[in-house]
Amino acid sequence: MTSTITPDPSASAVISVEEQHFNDLIDADSRIEPRDWMPEGYRKSLVRQISQHAHSEIIGMQPESNWITRAPSLKRKAILMAKVQDEAGHGLYLYSAAQTLGATRDDMTDALIAGKARYSSIFNYPTPSWADMGSIGWLVDGAAICNQVPLCRASYGPYGRAMVRICKEESFHQRQGFEILLELMQGTEEQRQMAQDSVNRWYWPALMMFGPPDDDSPNSAQSMAWKIKRHSNDELRQRFVNMLVPQAAVLGITLPDPELHFNEDTQQWDLGVIDWTEFHEVLAGRGPNNAQRLQRRRDAHDNGAWVREAAAAYARKQSARTKEMAAS
Ligand code: 3HC
Repeated sequence: MTSTITPDPSASAVISVEEQHFNDLIDADSRIEPRDWMPEGYRKSLVRQISQHAHSEIIGMQPESNWITRAPSLKRKAILMAKVQDEAGHGLYLYSAAQTLGATRDDMTDALIAGKARYSSIFNYPTPSWADMGSIGWLVDGAAICNQVPLCRASYGPYGRAMVRICKEESFHQRQGFEILLELMQGTEEQRQMAQDSVNRWYWPALMMFGPPDDDSPNSAQSMAWKIKRHSNDELRQRFVNMLVPQAAVLGITLPDPELHFNEDTQQWDLGVIDWTEFHEVLAGRGPNNAQRLQRRRDAHDNGAWVREAAAAYARKQSARTKEMAAS
């Protein structure tokens, strides 16, 4: 069978048996597992995407944890705490998946706290009102589901399997956000305004979560050839907007895009122009909350040093005890 895979630039012109096997597995839509040979470019691309994804989950705990102590009821507080804990779990599954590719947890964490690693632009926006918990669930987790359900079929086994669990939880997150907004929209005029104001602030940044437009996305073509990504950034963004429009109608919320209109020819919702300058500013570290998010992550890392040291000391003692017992 002729392979559709673009050759790895680091590989020699002659395809080795291992590389042919890798290409055959990809062509057959099978899974690549940690024990399998893989091109260096494939491994690096996965570590890049999975570690960025893990960092996003961990940094993503911050905007919502801001509201745990101020949730409007015990029920809302319990739900929010569970959700923030879920995000921590997602980070851990993803760091573990990256570790199967040889990345170390320490290196990934160091890159994050040194400000050298990327994480999703969306988590650099502030959460000044309770309605933001609704918008994050509905829009941010909604966008995450759209982007991440196809990743359950990613060609790398540990990543795809981690995504299955993550997506199940994300769908609960999306629904709880929708329900917060629905309740606010059925409340007082002030509550309705709070919900609309929040959606006005989160809508465009949520669309940016899907990444730059296809003609400005350097990684997409190769990632799709390797079946890490299954759809392009613009395709998924469009799918998300098509999904949002009827949901916004149920909520009674206006999506803040005056150019949004239904295109009879394509049967899709055409959207207005995204402010890519804002996106690049946030990626360059100049978003509203970038500095604060990283500082909090660094503080948490420093404050947790004693836990890591205690765990390492305990592991050393256990290992010494095991050796002693084996020797006696
Ligand atoms: N925020 C920050 N960086 C972004 C970005 C965003 N919204 N969109 C793209 N980028 C970065 C890319 O990481 C890439 O950087 P790099 O080359 O330095 O690594 C660069 O911009 C160019 O973008 P590409 O389109 O070429 O990159 P990809 O092909 O990797 O596509 C992606 C970007 C769609 C985000 C893809 O990596 C992906 O699907 N990742 C997995 C999902 C993920 O990480 N989601 C983040 C949100 S986390 C989350 O949803 C948590 C939940 O609880 C809400």
